[in-house]
Amino acid sequence: MRICQTIEEMRAACREAKRSGKRLGFVPTMGALHEGHLSLVRAAKASCEVVAASIFVNPLQFGPREDLQKYPRDFDRDRALLEKESVELLFAPSVEEMYPPGAITWVEVEGLSDRLDGHSRPGHFRGVTTVVAKLFHIVEPDAAYFGQKDAAQLAIIRRMARDLNFPVEIVAGPIVREADGLAMSSRNAYLNPQQRKQALVLHRSLLRVKKLWEGGERDLARLRAAGREEIAREDSVRLDYFEIVDAGSLEPVVDVADGALVAVAALVGTTRLIDNVALDASHGAR
Ligand code: PAF
Repeated sequence: MRICQTIEEMRAACREAKRSGKRLGFVPTMGALHEGHLSLVRAAKASCEVVAASIFVNPLQFGPREDLQKYPRDFDRDRALLEKESVELLFAPSVEEMYPPGAITWVEVEGLSDRLDGHSRPGHFRGVTTVVAKLFHIVEPDAAYFGQKDAAQLAIIRRMARDLNFPVEIVAGPIVREADGLAMSSRNAYLNPQQRKQALVLHRSLLRVKKLWEGGERDLARLRAAGREEIAREDSVRLDYFEIVDAGSLEPVVDVADGALVAVAALVGTTRLIDNVALDASHGAR
């Protein structure tokens, strides 16, 4: 695996890799890799001839009181994991390389950026879209892979790619869960054993809503109330939002129809976790 630390080197390596018409897949990450990331890498390997990944803890997407400083970083471990998956190119730039002094340009998907996590984390999604737009320009991938766990991020990146005509296919990878249902996240590392158990309430709340919906309940208020009630049962977990929205526009749905996204965010101790399920009449909720 070739590791590139500068934009110039990464751009040249990606162009070289694509020169003979090879399809280039790209998995952007902030490191602290887990099975969720690796499943995206495997999906990229399955449909692309060359796979590039990036590891960059993007300061622009962290709020002033968020966990930028303590965000888990273990470059050697991540590198070994990517090497094992036969990733060909790894981009690992410094903050100065990505944001030289004087950089003042942002990419923002207006409206969508303020919904769900964007409502509780002002500026978060504009940091995400700015870095992803830069990464797309550097790597010029044919396909880019993002996890369904960050459903709002996925919708916003799809919209950005469409509105700004990035010639890239955005591919979503399913949520990867621990055996007991907890969605994999780099932030799970912050949880102590007790919080780790409490965190299961997120998935439980989604399953409760899914079951009601599969039983024929379509009323938004009742479904949302059931989800919120489930979270409230776990005293030490503080709900941020429990919403049922259109997966593309992230707007609350009126009638909870096929394809709606049930999304939750909550604080377990000081750790903010998110999870979601898509309601699907043909296959049950995913
Ligand atoms: O999902 C993430 O890990 C990050 O938001 C991303 C897409 C790598 C941008 O920093």
